[in-house]
Amino acid sequence: MTAILIIDPEAPDAAAITRAAEVLRSGGLVAFPTETVYGLGAHALDRAAVRRIFEAKGRPSTDPLIVHVGSVTELSALVSRTSATVEALAARFWPGPLTLVLPRSPAVPDEVTAGLETVAIRIPSHPVARALLDAAAIPIAAPSANLFSRPSPTRAAHVLEDLDGRIDMVIDGGPTIVGVESTVLDLSGNVPTILRPGAVTREMLNEILPRVMWRAGAPARESGEAMRSPGLLDKHYSPRAPLTLYEGDASAVVARMTEDARVHAHNGRTAGIVAADDDPFTGEHVVRLGPGSDLATVASRLYAALRDLDASGVDVILVRSFPADAGLGLAVHDRLRRAAAGRIVHC
Ligand code: TXA
Ligand code: MG
Repeated sequence: MTAILIIDPEAPDAAAITRAAEVLRSGGLVAFPTETVYGLGAHALDRAAVRRIFEAKGRPSTDPLIVHVGSVTELSALVSRTSATVEALAARFWPGPLTLVLPRSPAVPDEVTAGLETVAIRIPSHPVARALLDAAAIPIAAPSANLFSRPSPTRAAHVLEDLDGRIDMVIDGGPTIVGVESTVLDLSGNVPTILRPGAVTREMLNEILPRVMWRAGAPARESGEAMRSPGLLDKHYSPRAPLTLYEGDASAVVARMTEDARVHAHNGRTAGIVAADDDPFTGEHVVRLGPGSDLATVASRLYAALRDLDASGVDVILVRSFPADAGLGLAVHDRLRRAAAGRIVHC
């Protein structure tokens, strides 16, 4: 039921891209690679198509979507005002893993924005995403192409694991590059605010914006009011097996994880371990994300590691924390903390 198109990201085949673009233009759902994670695309100005995204994912309709466009000129139709700041950010970071939250224009359906007065927009840099946007010549609404609350997909196989039979097409363009979702920057208020950290880091944003706030916690919300960012939900990006995050001194973390894995085994539970290359863990279910200091590699492998451990049938997942003070570390730590949904051990 779900067609699979294999496309070489180095040289996207025009005929295949045209086929996918046709599906989108006629209201269908197409999953496609972006540089961050796979997105589940629909025609952003077609309300029925956008509703299908929520059905396929099992996503609450209160959770707004990002609109992907091919060029900055398309912004004017979607937002009610732009600014010199927007232009500077666009010039520096687009195409790329930055999403801007801006005052919306009336052209954007409520289904996309969950009724908010703002719309989230980004220009992705992945060659397949760009070719698709060019060919379709429409704005494409696309959340991550996973079932709601599961880890985002970084490979086409992950998309099929969650959505096979629920969507029209998936474009397999190989593994994504960044591995965690885009930075979401809210420019609709007085002070630019990072709603979700990503590969465009706070330090990078500071090159253009002297003042950027980082919103770590969930704001108080009226019930039924759209959430500003589901990254703010506590349980998100989660594997099926309960995940525990170990924070603190590296050697204490390794010792505590080793001991906890032993206790789990004693009680008949298999523990999967997510580690850095140089951590001294042994055993069958150890997945390594790269050198502990190479956060780009760690980020790119994180979600696949969680899905692989789920697939191998482990009962629990124990994850060491990575340096979270700067750069991509914030994004990795944010996703791990949410995947842990409160199960954090301080060593
Ligand atoms: O990297 C990415 O951003 C990927 C790829 C496919 O582009 N997309 C993605 O979409 O991660 P999704 O739906 O999984 O996450 C979108 C985030 C959510 O945290 C959502 O709440 C926030 O963007 N968002 C969307 N519209 C918003 C708005 N108007 N105001 C505030 N946050 C918004
Ligand atoms: Mg998502």
